[in-house]
Amino acid sequence: MNLKGNEAFFSFPAMGYFFGEIMFDAKGVPYDLKIVDVNFSFKKLMGLQSKEIIGKSLLNMFSGFDCEFIEKVRISLSQNKIFQDFVYIPKYGKYVFITVVPKDEKFVLISFADMTEVIRYREKMLKLNKIQNTINKVNSVIINANNLEYLYQKICDTLSELDEIVLVFVALFPEKEKQSKIIAIGGQEDTKHYFLTDVKSLFDELGVLSDVVKKRKVVLVKNILENVNFKHYKDSILKIGVKSLLALPLIYEKGLKGALFLLSKNDNVFGDVNVINLIKTLTYDLAIGIEKVKLRKELMEKNKVLEKSIEDILKILSKFVEIKDPYTLGHQINVANLSEQIAIKMGLPENQVRTIRLGALVHDIGKIGVPIEILVKPGKLSEKEFELIKEHPIIGHNLLKDLIYPYNTLAEIALQHHERLNGTGYPNGLKGSDISLESRIIAVADVVEAMSSHRPYRPSLGIEKALDVITKGKGKLFDPEVVNACISLFKEDNFSFSKNLE
Ligand SMILES: [Fe+2]
Repeated sequence: MNLKGNEAFFSFPAMGYFFGEIMFDAKGVPYDLKIVDVNFSFKKLMGLQSKEIIGKSLLNMFSGFDCEFIEKVRISLSQNKIFQDFVYIPKYGKYVFITVVPKDEKFVLISFADMTEVIRYREKMLKLNKIQNTINKVNSVIINANNLEYLYQKICDTLSELDEIVLVFVALFPEKEKQSKIIAIGGQEDTKHYFLTDVKSLFDELGVLSDVVKKRKVVLVKNILENVNFKHYKDSILKIGVKSLLALPLIYEKGLKGALFLLSKNDNVFGDVNVINLIKTLTYDLAIGIEKVKLRKELMEKNKVLEKSIEDILKILSKFVEIKDPYTLGHQINVANLSEQIAIKMGLPENQVRTIRLGALVHDIGKIGVPIEILVKPGKLSEKEFELIKEHPIIGHNLLKDLIYPYNTLAEIALQHHERLNGTGYPNGLKGSDISLESRIIAVADVVEAMSSHRPYRPSLGIEKALDVITKGKGKLFDPEVVNACISLFKEDNFSFSKNLE
């Protein structure tokens, strides 16, 4: 064979080269390449000596090459064209980029660029990137979580989506107890089941779980099957397909400590310091998230107490009106109950339903400012007396407007509860959607309650008559949707005003 003219290629230090002689079968079809010569870099790349390579078949020596590759060589030869390919050679763990140069009808020159480092680096970056993305997902869970159970479970579910991870769990260690308690677990159903029934007790026995917490250190088991602690439990461990383990201490609080465990199906998955650091960062974020959830929970409980106190104060305020005008005893509570149910029936959000209930509780608070003799006067009021009655929404508004937000919004409700859709209401003659939905609901509940209640100067007109009045006023005086919800409550849901006016 004539290598003349190719010495320069062969002496190029960074690139591996070999000359191959094409092997033909009886029909003249190429089926393999015989390695005729190699340069120093090629031997270095594969860790082989000349005598181990020269004269050998390419397909036998390097498992990454196959018949398909030989076919490509044949085409390249027949067209006298260079071709390039990317080949992984498993036996030598090498990723190589090759360029095949046809020399004549029997020989080819093949260059090998070792891409292994580049590929490994890319794989590592992809892996870190995936972990980072998962951590971002977990952080968004941490930001939005309102309860710890949800937080732990969501984190386990999210982390178990990572490649190579078969099981993720959070274990707590109540003080003075030997057994740990798994409070959240993520992974395949059968793996989780098998772990909880067969392997978890083994972990407790070995103290794997408690060690993490007591020492407050990251525990890394690169290869469980080779670890002396696990040597008697290989079968059980193999059954859940776990080969490596990473555990990080998680929670520090009185009498309760815990840890996050990640179990992988491959060995040495957590060996990379970057992976451990990323997951460590996650546990710091998680610790902050846990604190935040606790604070938020405490705050919500305090808010509930505050809200209850405010509702109680408003109830007391509403009773001032009833002390002054005992004929309307329980009116505001009844209106509050009905308005609340109408709002729920209409599918309004929880906050709005609550505002409507509170607004209804004090909608007539302005009556405190109306002379008592007018409030309790039996029979028809004179025009002048009615003008004074019509002041109560404005007085109510002035009383409530200085409350702190959001309770000052009740002032507007009190102001508008006698407004009517067609503008015939008072005090401002507002029309349609200029009247707030809250006030439109209370207006209907107010009329229904007032008509169906006994008054000293007249008997109850009855619920049927009350519903008849709002039906006739539907679309003219009253919001049609509110009227429909109110009628449906009485006709279909058997709503009735409570006798116990608490
Ligand atoms: Fe009123």
